[in-house]
Amino acid sequence: MREAVNSAAVTFRGNQARHRHGWLRLTPAYSVQLVERLVGELPARTRVLDPFCGTGTTLLTCAEQGLSCTTVDLNPFLVWLANTKAREYASADCTRARTLVLRMAEASRRAAPRDPWLPPIANIDRWWHRPTQLALGRAFAVLARSQYSPAVRDLARVAFCRALIGSANVSFGHQSMSFKVNGTLPTSAVARLLEGAISEVNEGARVALTKPRAGALLGDARSLQGSVKQRRFDAVITSPPYCNRMSYIRELRPYMYWLGHLDVPASAGELDWRAIGGTWGVATSRLTRWQPPEPTARLLPELVPVLTAIAERSELLARYVERYFSDMAAHLASLRQVLRSGATAAYVIGNSKFFDVLLPTEQLLALAMERLGFARAHVETLRTRTSKAELFEFLVTSVRR
Ligand SMILES: C[S@@+](CC[C@H](N)C(=O)[O-])C[C@H]1O[C@@H](n2cnc3c(N)ncnc32)[C@H](O)[C@@H]1O
Repeated sequence: MREAVNSAAVTFRGNQARHRHGWLRLTPAYSVQLVERLVGELPARTRVLDPFCGTGTTLLTCAEQGLSCTTVDLNPFLVWLANTKAREYASADCTRARTLVLRMAEASRRAAPRDPWLPPIANIDRWWHRPTQLALGRAFAVLARSQYSPAVRDLARVAFCRALIGSANVSFGHQSMSFKVNGTLPTSAVARLLEGAISEVNEGARVALTKPRAGALLGDARSLQGSVKQRRFDAVITSPPYCNRMSYIRELRPYMYWLGHLDVPASAGELDWRAIGGTWGVATSRLTRWQPPEPTARLLPELVPVLTAIAERSELLARYVERYFSDMAAHLASLRQVLRSGATAAYVIGNSKFFDVLLPTEQLLALAMERLGFARAHVETLRTRTSKAELFEFLVTSVRR
């Protein structure tokens, strides 16, 4: 077992300095260094699958190393982001994107229009002060009307997303986003954020990739056959949701509302209910009625005493954990259908704690793999995750039988 290290270099913070990998932050993105190591160990021409795309770290790393990668996510914003990060950009695209973003910055400084379109995000005043909302709205109107190519507009969208978060009253803690109280920003702040963002985004876009092929697809990791065309992948490198009640939709909703991936609060809850480990809004109330399609004890009897211990404190949380493993089992069964025999699987995953009950997610995942058609399941400890001594991140590997 590798010695655990507690290093920001193996988390999303380590990704921020790395050109395209650092374009936008998603707290649970896994480390580029780790993915580079895993991709680097694969033979040339390996066909890689990442069934939980997130920000597209696996896709981009494969594109940088010249490997084919298909990645899947049920969040359309993340599918867009991953494809945008792994695209080839001509120098002219970067020049035009700069022109467009400078026009957006100029519009953000004006006093008119006084009522630009603003997204229907609940409680928008909590996110941005009114003058900032209007400056963002005026910048966005220029982007929405522009006639440039999709590549140019996508670069401008990334710059806009960076300005959105740069001007929002939020901070990112170790596990999730929270609101913070900001002083009112000067009216020129949005313009300065946009100008800075497009310089950084272009710096990454100008770095050539080594033949990216395949890409990110909208789909469900529990029914991969329906989403991926390629049916014989050679390797999986991924990081599934952890069983820790973190909601990606909750964290990503400012980007998603502005870019039109969410229109009403109900659609956010719907998407979270479909996500593995989803726990936000309607997802929580639906859990109370959820029943496992198959008794959990059949596949994972080891989970039963853990569920019983959690249920003593909260029936709802026990059900949450049971649904997580039911979904992961459905995922592994579906995954097996699209892998060739002998394909390798590498999962980065964290354990969790509910009250005083430790949930050994990595061990349970390894057992589920062994029982669902994978052999040689192995758990390696990568790093400690928090100040809590028992929480770690692991690499679980196996081979499809
Ligand atoms: C831990 S994140 C992946 C992070 C990624 N490795 C990165 O570097 O950004 C897990 C991802 O799984 C996605 N997800 C959750 N349930 C899913 C499902 N049923 N099918 C496909 N993707 C799903 C979430 O939207 C989230 O993006």
